[in-house]
Amino acid sequence: MSLNIVILAAGQGKRMYSALPKVLHPLAGKSLLQHVVDTARQLKPARLVVVYGHGGDAVRAAIPDADVAWALQAEQLGTGHALTQALPYLDAALPTLVLYGDVPLVRKATLEHLIHQAGAGLGLLTARLDDPHGYGRIARDGVGNVCAIVEEKDASERERQIQEINTGIMALPARVLGDWLAGLKNNNAQSEYYLTDVVARAVASGVAVRTAHPAAPWEVEGVNNKAQLARLERVHQLQLAEALLIQGVRLADPARIDIRGSLICGRDVSIDVGCVFEGEVRLEEAAEIGPYCVIRNASIAAGSRLAAFTHIDGAAVGPDCALGPFARLRPGAELSAGAHVGNFVEIKNSRIGAGSKANHLAYVGDADVGARVNIGAGAITCNYDGANKFRTVIEDDVFIGSDTQLVAPVRVGKGATLGAGTTLTRDAPADSLTVSRTRQKTIEGWKRPTKVSGK
Ligand code: UD1
Ligand code: CA
Repeated sequence: MSLNIVILAAGQGKRMYSALPKVLHPLAGKSLLQHVVDTARQLKPARLVVVYGHGGDAVRAAIPDADVAWALQAEQLGTGHALTQALPYLDAALPTLVLYGDVPLVRKATLEHLIHQAGAGLGLLTARLDDPHGYGRIARDGVGNVCAIVEEKDASERERQIQEINTGIMALPARVLGDWLAGLKNNNAQSEYYLTDVVARAVASGVAVRTAHPAAPWEVEGVNNKAQLARLERVHQLQLAEALLIQGVRLADPARIDIRGSLICGRDVSIDVGCVFEGEVRLEEAAEIGPYCVIRNASIAAGSRLAAFTHIDGAAVGPDCALGPFARLRPGAELSAGAHVGNFVEIKNSRIGAGSKANHLAYVGDADVGARVNIGAGAITCNYDGANKFRTVIEDDVFIGSDTQLVAPVRVGKGATLGAGTTLTRDAPADSLTVSRTRQKTIEGWKRPTKVSGK
């Protein structure tokens, strides 16, 4: 679109009580400012400028997008002053859309509607609120034309009764913008240069002022404190959940899911309560996710089932696998078809072949495990000597007895059996039993010690 977009994000956000600049607080795993930048970019602006101040370099560094220009507002002297800082980066021949870095959920369609309404004039996004407290009010004349925006702190008793509020989001016409901003004064209750004063200026110079309204009130809700942030998080999550339901995903409760990234689901996927999805997650056909699972940057292939409290990060689960409860896959874990990973089993940077099982209490790190392998309870790959990591290779059809330590680098040949309790420090040959246990002995007639009297 032939348009400049300016995002105002220099404010401090005192009421967040946080070392993190307000616009960097996350909503659905993405900063407030990134939400606004992403929405702005959907409009394909000719110029996209962020006015920043508080949090300075941290804010800039958090938004790596190369197409964003940064305008520093060293002192926060008001919204009009903020927009003035962006002027050098704008194309003066194009209209300018102003967004706020702390109003994260405004929708593209609403902004398009505002731009359309504004035409060559001034467009204001306004909303009617039951409680307009704190907002600038939209003053209209006898025939309903907008004549000014009056800030709460400057409003008369009568003006404060007005329920139509300024969301702050506006579309400003090209060419006059520089003049209008240069003409702003700060003779008001807050001694600030109010951007909202351009409305009276437009009216005085015969520029049409038109309003548009958001489809839903949460689109224009800002974040000033963590209660508002939490509220918008739930609003947003519910929308994501509803989109999944409409696609055919079964959610036990759309109010109890958190998606912090992208979640792509196949047919007949079902997700129980309390699950968190982060980064890029793909759940293929008929995957079943039990309650309270956390899944980050992972793919779960068709028909796999995750029981409660399974934790997956940077892993790929093949089809028809069974995991959990309390299973943990760490980065680089890859399970082939039909693998089973049970409770308190941790797998890192390892491939597990088709049909292999580690059902209880095991650690498999830096290993290549073949097909149809059985890893007993308490088996551990000792992959780390305190300085370096080594790989363990376990070939097809191996049986690893319980409580076995495989001291890497080590290889277990095809079809081998390791006796329970073995500490394997050299390769185990194929098709044989290897056991490092000391031979069992029995002492006949042995008596337990008895307590010495008087002690
Ligand atoms: C502003 C509007 C008010 C509107 C309200 C909606 C003005 C004068 N008032 O009031 O009509 O109802 O928003 O929330 O515009 N900012 C800067 N630099 C500054 C001041 C602000 O970048 O010097 C940024 C803030 O980071 C924030 C936005 O502008 O993203 C709004 O600032 P804020 O101080 O919250 O404005 P309000 O006084 O609430
Ligand atoms: Ca505000």
